[in-house]
Amino acid sequence: MKRTHYCGEITENLIGQEITVMGWVNKQRDLPTVVFLVLRDRTGLFQIAVKKEVEFYSLAKSIRGEYVLAARGTVISRGEGNINPDMPTGAVELDVAELEILSESEVPPFQVADEDVNVDLRLKYRYIDLRRPKAQEILILRHRTAQAIRRFLSEDGFIEVETPTLAKSSPEGARDYLVPSRNFPGEFYALPQSPQLYKQILMIAGLDKYFQIVKCYRDEDLRADRQPEFTQVDLEMSFVDMEDVIDLNERLMQAVCREILGLEIPTPFPRITYREAMERFGSDKPDTRFGMELSNITELVENSEFAMFQTAIEAGGSVRGILASGCAGLPRKQLDNLAELVKQYKAKALFYIVLPAEGEPKTSLSKFFSPEKIQAIIAHFGAKPGDTIFICADVNSVVFDALGALRVELAKRQNLLDPSQYNFLWVTEFPLLEWSEEDARFYASHHPFTAPMDEDLPLLEKGENLAQTRAKAYDMVLNGFEVGGGSVRIHRKEVQNLMFKTLGFTEEDAQAGFGFFLEALKYGVPPHGGLAYGFDRLVMLFAKTDAIRDVIAFPKTKDAACLMSESPSVVGVELLNELGISLKSGG
Ligand code: AMO
Repeated sequence: MKRTHYCGEITENLIGQEITVMGWVNKQRDLPTVVFLVLRDRTGLFQIAVKKEVEFYSLAKSIRGEYVLAARGTVISRGEGNINPDMPTGAVELDVAELEILSESEVPPFQVADEDVNVDLRLKYRYIDLRRPKAQEILILRHRTAQAIRRFLSEDGFIEVETPTLAKSSPEGARDYLVPSRNFPGEFYALPQSPQLYKQILMIAGLDKYFQIVKCYRDEDLRADRQPEFTQVDLEMSFVDMEDVIDLNERLMQAVCREILGLEIPTPFPRITYREAMERFGSDKPDTRFGMELSNITELVENSEFAMFQTAIEAGGSVRGILASGCAGLPRKQLDNLAELVKQYKAKALFYIVLPAEGEPKTSLSKFFSPEKIQAIIAHFGAKPGDTIFICADVNSVVFDALGALRVELAKRQNLLDPSQYNFLWVTEFPLLEWSEEDARFYASHHPFTAPMDEDLPLLEKGENLAQTRAKAYDMVLNGFEVGGGSVRIHRKEVQNLMFKTLGFTEEDAQAGFGFFLEALKYGVPPHGGLAYGFDRLVMLFAKTDAIRDVIAFPKTKDAACLMSESPSVVGVELLNELGISLKSGG
């Protein structure tokens, strides 16, 4: 038998026609005179009917869920009363003339339609999990998104170039995944964390506009929006400044959202500086679908008897809060949960002022502040009966992280996050450098190839106020996720050398880590810049799910393991010997 139609295509127009369909058994119903089998394929469901008169009737009775069948027959109307309005093909069925079992199936570990299945079991049997129509829709959406991006960039003059996945280990950035070399025992390749240096070298080579939809690898702690191997839409352009890169990417997102979501995204996207994002939202990837902005009340509460506030203020920190409208009714347990949440972000405590619909405000601050002061804080936030004010005091980074997370959590609980609203924005003017107390050195906030802002270059040159130096870096933020990040690059070798020096590299270290790139910078470099999208995150938001695991065909667990193929796995001693590797005992 040869398939003539997909299950989902069969409509009343085909009544009377002979067709052949193939698919998995979604459901079987064994009635006294007929066996109904609902077949499933990528396009949908279609019912076939095997009547008692046919010779393969007993064969049909033996068929179970997930068997794979081929069926030839005539499309007939189900007739009034038997129509299934929940199935797009529910008005018709197949009167089967020939039936073949293409393969049998054991009883699956879970039913395809079952929504309530343990995630690990789903991942172990991912091929069954992927039979869910929703899972297939997402992979198709991912494909369409990739196609739309490829088409737009190709039409705009970008060239898709593949860069190596056996690359050089980089001393900066996240932990590398290493691949041992057989030819050079004791030496290793690294799987690329991104094609950053290759794409810059492609600009030096004169490719002018490059893109790639590319796998990247980072051995870091995993979260719902982070996988150890993930996909970037990586792009780079020559003879451009930040405005050109931003303009291109706004047009790209506009075209993709139009095609994939049927949404018209207004351009230019709003832009805010890193500093403003932190001050207003406590986050460098603010979700702007709702308000609840942070407010600084340091001046209002300074010089009090309250040691916790005073210590924070004297240490250069601040006291800030958010107004949660309509949250006065939160039960004690929920308030405790929120206090636990901010502790995860290193905040020592969460203070609140609850304004009941009637009566006096209730607050954990009443021991330390007069009723007039409490009223002044309430007035500062413009709080009304029924509202709650949450307050944190600490060093700024802790206050921002804690209130930023609290803000999102409160919005979730209040159902303020509409997944069909797409709020794009740019965050700009990131700090170039970040100080690490632990390592007592600066790290590049984005990466060491990002150019400082022209007006801040003298800070770098003089080695003064380094933490104040801003970068020509920009993140594209969508609904609270960093969906893309990029920068204008350093294209002059003196500045690149200065950057490595600022990061504490000796000349030898810089040569050992990045010598090939420093060499390339000697031979004519166009000014260039670019950006990379987290493609999985973008598709996750388009698919309206909340984990990138859902949009990756074969994702890894939080421990970076694949439950289906059982990787990573032990390898034989012979292979290790060939690679010149011996394992530590216990390893
Ligand atoms: P960056 O490190 O910001 O920049 O990465 C770009 C985008 O990739 C996504 N991303 C991830 N997605 C899933 N899992 C992960 N573990 C993960 N890590 C990052 C994010 C992020 O915005 N070479 C530079 C880009 C450039 O400067 O052009 C880079 O890799 O959405």
